[in-house]
Amino acid sequence: MTCRNGESGAVISVADDGSGIPADQHDHVFKRFYRLEQSRYTPGNGLGLSLVAAVASLHGATIELRDNSPGLLVVLCFPAAAVA
Ligand SMILES: Nc1ncnc2c1ncn2[C@@H]1O[C@H](COP(=O)(O)OP(=O)(O)OP(=O)(O)O)[C@@H](O)[C@H]1O
Ligand SMILES: [Mg+2]
Repeated sequence: MTCRNGESGAVISVADDGSGIPADQHDHVFKRFYRLEQSRYTPGNGLGLSLVAAVASLHGATIELRDNSPGLLVVLCFPAAAVA
């Protein structure tokens, strides 16, 4: 995991070298209880990424899923707090 100062705020990146998520599934995995076919025999409830999306939304952050070749790279961009 890395955290850096981006152009418009804090950028947190989380990466692994697992199976990754096909691009055509990126929009779906943020839905509650949605699990990919390949996860059928692994533990989980399909809630983790929907919670990530909910928390990111509360902070006005964007989430991007990328191919980590191999694995998944998740990039969260948090807007800088406005200075009064
Ligand atoms: N790091 C990852 N690498 C590959 N596939 C992933 C990864 N994270 C999530 N996925 C896929 O997206 C689906 C949804 O992920 P999500 O985190 O919402 O649920 P989960 O991991 O199945 O269960 P949990 O509720 O324990 O997080 C997973 O079932 C899996 O298919
Ligand atoms: Mg999960």
